[in-house]
Amino acid sequence: MKTILVISLCWALVQGACPNVNIVLRSAWGAAAPTNVSALQLPVSLVFIHQTETPACQDPTSCKARVKDIQQYHMSIKGLADIDYSFLVAENGTIYEGQGWDRVGVHTEGYNSRGISFSFIGRYSNNKPPVAALTAVKNMIQCGISQGKVDSGYHLYGHRDVNATSSLGDALHHEIQTWPHYSHTKP
Ligand SMILES: *[C@@H]1O[C@H](CO)[C@@H](O)[C@H](O)[C@H]1NC(C)=O
Ligand SMILES: *[C@@H]1O[C@H](CO)[C@@H](O)[C@H](O)[C@H]1NC(C)=O
Ligand SMILES: *[C@@H]1O[C@H](CO)[C@@H](O)[C@H](O)[C@H]1NC(C)=O
Repeated sequence: MKTILVISLCWALVQGACPNVNIVLRSAWGAAAPTNVSALQLPVSLVFIHQTETPACQDPTSCKARVKDIQQYHMSIKGLADIDYSFLVAENGTIYEGQGWDRVGVHTEGYNSRGISFSFIGRYSNNKPPVAALTAVKNMIQCGISQGKVDSGYHLYGHRDVNATSSLGDALHHEIQTWPHYSHTKP
């Protein structure tokens, strides 16, 4: 029992993992290599919530395919160096690594070098994401703080709070306004 605990702890440290979140790393979803990478200055003080504006996904096979499609769209059509979000969130709470904690993304124009993004896979105008997905993001933010990636006094925003965009849907936007650190003033 103790051995198993020690082994899991070591594994968590090796992976830089968050113990209470199921994270699918880039290698596991078959990410294409980025064409350019720049390092984020850590810890970041801004956390942005997005939605992918694609259909939602449930099972690992369709979620991996969805995340690959999104990366391909960002790289081939939008001409970006990589998938633009830091992390993507499936309905059951599985988190897919995008740019991850350490790299500058292309998610929130004007704020990319100061923040990270969590993008819920789906469209959430009428219904918010399932509790499992919401909880996963809250746990990730806490994990980011404990790993020195996110400042403990961070400010949380919806994408549409800072940029003219339809992301997020109303239901998800209402939800995040109840979260700790949601900020009504622009960064
Ligand atoms: C890579 O990104 C950095 C930082 O955004 C930028 O200064 C540089 O010009 C980029 N390089 C290429 C080849 O696009
Ligand atoms: C979500 O589904 C995947 C695949 O079935 C499973 O491995 C995972 O444990 C589920 N829950 C979370 C929180 O990821
Ligand atoms: C997003 O906000 C930044 C900073 O205010 C601004 O420079 C940029 O033009 C905005 N982009 C959109 C699409 O609204």
